[in-house]
Amino acid sequence: MAILGIDIGGSGIKGAPVDTMEGTLLAPRFRVETPQPPTPISMAHSVAEIARYFRWEGSIGCGYPGVIKHGRTMSAANLHPDWIGIEAEKMLTEATGCRVTLINDADAAGLAELRFGAGKNNPNPVLMLTIGTGIGSALFVNGHLVPNTELGHLIVRGKDAEHRASDRVRVEKDLSWKQWAARFNEYLAYVEMLFSPDMIIIGGGVSKRFDKYAGYLQAQAQIVPALLLNDAGIIGAAMNAVEHETH
Ligand code: BGC
Repeated sequence: MAILGIDIGGSGIKGAPVDTMEGTLLAPRFRVETPQPPTPISMAHSVAEIARYFRWEGSIGCGYPGVIKHGRTMSAANLHPDWIGIEAEKMLTEATGCRVTLINDADAAGLAELRFGAGKNNPNPVLMLTIGTGIGSALFVNGHLVPNTELGHLIVRGKDAEHRASDRVRVEKDLSWKQWAARFNEYLAYVEMLFSPDMIIIGGGVSKRFDKYAGYLQAQAQIVPALLLNDAGIIGAAMNAVEHETH
């Protein structure tokens, strides 16, 4: 089934039509910059622009960087606070004229990796961490998602973990990969102490640069890069929309 997958992020909004049975993109992705300030209205325009670019008339699955409860956006760590508590699924459906289904962005990436990527057929506890503007998490047990885990906001050294070890912090503080990995290792140790996953999949922008820091990472779990790289969020958001259509 072809669904338009869209990944709403703190710095860019990316979309592409997805073959949800194969887990592949049917066309190169189209990206627009996240408008500033990133309010619901301005971002809804960007989402609609992506739908128009693909002349889309079918369903849309959208990944959003915050907690999603029954179509409402319940947090907005790296976006405008106006997002908190609104019926975003309804708003984006109106803005695009297409049926929009929302899911947390890391949960979306995890769904795609567990079905088609690095976590395929893995029945053990698997944790997906997406590292970008923030840190997103998706926890799977026996292939089932525990939604909205928000482990990027664990407190490490008195700070929100994503304010110490996200890719944005690496770039802003001009950290070497070794310096960034030292911060990330501290975070991993905390996450492992709490959840003891068998596998940790690293997604988001840093997944394609895995070779730069893999040698510095320390963890009990097997650590692997996302096989679908940064497309995992788009593919998983589309997969989630199919699930909602069939229920
Ligand atoms: C948000 C998460 C999101 C992550 C990655 C965090 O700031 O709270 O919901 O998954 O960023 O975008």
